[in-house]
Amino acid sequence: MLDKAQITKDIVSTTPFVLSNFRLLRKLDPNDHYWASFTDIEKLKVNGVFLETAMVVSWIGNTHKPKRILEIGTRTGGSLIALLSNYQDFRNIEVVSFDMWREYVSTTYFSKKFTELKNKNNENGEIAGNINVSEKKLKPFFSLIRNLSINKVKNNLAYFNIPSDIITFISGDSKRTVPSYFEKLPNEKFDYILVDGAHDAETAFIDLQNIADHVAEKGIIVFDDINFMNSDLMGVWVRFKEIQKNNFDFIEIDCRKGVGLAFRKDIA
Ligand SMILES: C[S@@+](CC[C@H](N)C(=O)[O-])C[C@H]1O[C@@H](n2cnc3c(N)ncnc32)[C@H](O)[C@@H]1O
Repeated sequence: MLDKAQITKDIVSTTPFVLSNFRLLRKLDPNDHYWASFTDIEKLKVNGVFLETAMVVSWIGNTHKPKRILEIGTRTGGSLIALLSNYQDFRNIEVVSFDMWREYVSTTYFSKKFTELKNKNNENGEIAGNINVSEKKLKPFFSLIRNLSINKVKNNLAYFNIPSDIITFISGDSKRTVPSYFEKLPNEKFDYILVDGAHDAETAFIDLQNIADHVAEKGIIVFDDINFMNSDLMGVWVRFKEIQKNNFDFIEIDCRKGVGLAFRKDIA
């Protein structure tokens, strides 16, 4: 039986460690608006508590130390840093990262400057994050963006002494790349899988279903953003839970964005 109250308490105890990582990332990658969004955590508290997905991931890194790791949605490496900055020994650790690098442009100096300029001219002010360019427009530059993105992830990880030679990067739409990976390696199992790629309900559900059979015994799935106001991911999570109820135990962590956790039951 999962003790949600105890798990939540343990997750909250990672706050200083995770905030210190965020501070370092803000310094290292000052153009990425994501790290800047953690400057004033008072604003991010819900019912007086600051609780972020990175803390859930960090708790898993600290307590479970998964060895075989799969991530859909790596962005600039934040969730890998949350997990792997808890490790001292990287022998036998393997990571497979799936991303289509849609957000790279929004993490650049030009996007930051352009966003600031636009904000200045915009009386209504606030824009949630840096301006991005759609992957459709960037299609001709995909290999350049892929290389720049992967380099950024590697640099960010290196700052935390996390080796990047443990990571296999697979670039492209997860709806295609994940099934194609498992078609070649049908028996692969992972101790930890983060599903944090596309946030449209259709893709998120497909991602969850594509990885469900590849979770090792006692392995964990983390599904991000189930509380996000403008996404349907709670509905996706509820549907996934119903289909997979015999295979996993579930809890939800009630933080700002909301995180679903699925723990693989013993495979008889
Ligand atoms: C929310 S960000 C991931 C954040 C990261 N997990 C972290 O915590 O730092 C979502 C990532 O998913 C990627 N993504 C979005 N749609 C995707 C798709 N269909 N296939 C693969 N990756 C996708 C984006 O490029 C982006 O890097």
